[in-house]
Amino acid sequence: MALHNKNPNFLPLFFATLFVFASAEVFFEERFEDGWESRWVKSDWKKDENMAGEWNYTAGKWNGDANDKGIQTSEDYRFYAISAEFPPVNNKGKTLVFQFSVKHEQKLDCGGGYMKLLSGDIDQKKFGGETPYSIMFGPDICGYSTKKVHAILTYNGTNHLIKKEVPCETDQLTHVYTFILHPDATYSILIDNVEKQTGSLYSDWDLLPPKKIKDPEAKKPEDWDDKEYIPDPEDKKPEGYDDIPKEIPDPDAKKPEDWDDEEDGEWTPSTIPNPEYKGPWKPKKIKNSNYKGKWNAPMIDNPDFKDDPDLYVFPNLKYVGIELWQVKSGTMFDNILVADDVEYAKKLAEETWGKNKDAEKAAFEEAEKKREEEESKDDPVDSDVEEDDDSDATDGTESDSDVKSDAESEEDAHDEL
Ligand SMILES: *[C@@H]1O[C@H](CO)[C@@H](O)[C@H](O)[C@H]1NC(C)=O
Ligand SMILES: *[C@@H]1O[C@H](CO)[C@@H](O)[C@H](O)[C@H]1NC(C)=O
Repeated sequence: MALHNKNPNFLPLFFATLFVFASAEVFFEERFEDGWESRWVKSDWKKDENMAGEWNYTAGKWNGDANDKGIQTSEDYRFYAISAEFPPVNNKGKTLVFQFSVKHEQKLDCGGGYMKLLSGDIDQKKFGGETPYSIMFGPDICGYSTKKVHAILTYNGTNHLIKKEVPCETDQLTHVYTFILHPDATYSILIDNVEKQTGSLYSDWDLLPPKKIKDPEAKKPEDWDDKEYIPDPEDKKPEGYDDIPKEIPDPDAKKPEDWDDEEDGEWTPSTIPNPEYKGPWKPKKIKNSNYKGKWNAPMIDNPDFKDDPDLYVFPNLKYVGIELWQVKSGTMFDNILVADDVEYAKKLAEETWGKNKDAEKAAFEEAEKKREEEESKDDPVDSDVEEDDDSDATDGTESDSDVKSDAESEEDAHDEL
């Protein structure tokens, strides 16, 4: 009530502005510290088929802070479904921010790293691939062709994919994915606090029928000339043009010596295409001076279009969930946020991913080095080459590349097994 004060004084307006800024709200935040299990419900989905995978509560094999844990898929060829409830959220008139970090330690070649926001009442014990959701967002990788950020919005019971291509990160390090939806129906997608895509719900998804359509009643006027070029009426067929034969006797053909006119009939040389022959005569083409351009039906207002000022509104968001199929496990989620404040989300990303990313990268490189050393130790051929390397320093570069190609073909062989 106080906000509707009609006092023409500027002071209340000033305080009202302050109030709006201070009202930044966090609807859900999960950093996976102690006690996280009381907030999350593991679904029984796929359990009776023994296809439900276990989550590992861990900081991962490489990290920037061994005490900063998240949840990681830990079994190959399994389904994963887990969700957490929060007090119902209606984003009408508010910005909605959905953010989390994900790391694929397993060098993912096919699998998702996305999360969902769900509305209404769901049975969390039964949460699975068929459970309706409101927003699905995050990276999806499969082979060489799919390496994208999904941003699926459910409107009027139908899932709509974003029409713009947004590439995702493909390395084995932590990245932060942020989806921002504004009350003016614009959105942004950020990776590691950098904007990767932005636009409007109207243009980048087909949530509503198109605003304008081609007039289905319109017809091309009969006198509309859409031929850009026409035959030149002045051009004439050269005399004797049609007398040029298509084929001529091969001048190099020779009558075989054992040819017997009486037995074999009269010898005729084989024919070859005549280089003089230019095909049937056609007059040359000239620009049509009556050309009016390509005819397009005029655009009219689509009678099926009805604007929805609440296009961006999800009136009853209540759960955040992860629902995945993993061929190779190792995908790790952390620092999940649902809020109405872009700045808060940015700060959270900086304080978590931002603070740890350099140390995590160093730890990853260390782990890679160790792994490569282990691999070459296991391989007697490679270690032989390496010993040769040490004793013959002058030939170092060449031997190095030998070692590398050996290791690579070894890796290929493993892959094929
Ligand atoms: C959980 O993750 C840690 C760190 O990567 C690993 O050492 C451990 O084996 C994992 N546990 C399971 C059950 O996968
Ligand atoms: C919602 O879906 C129903 C059934 O598919 C359809 O008839 C209706 O036109 C849709 N409304 C909007 C606003 O898209």
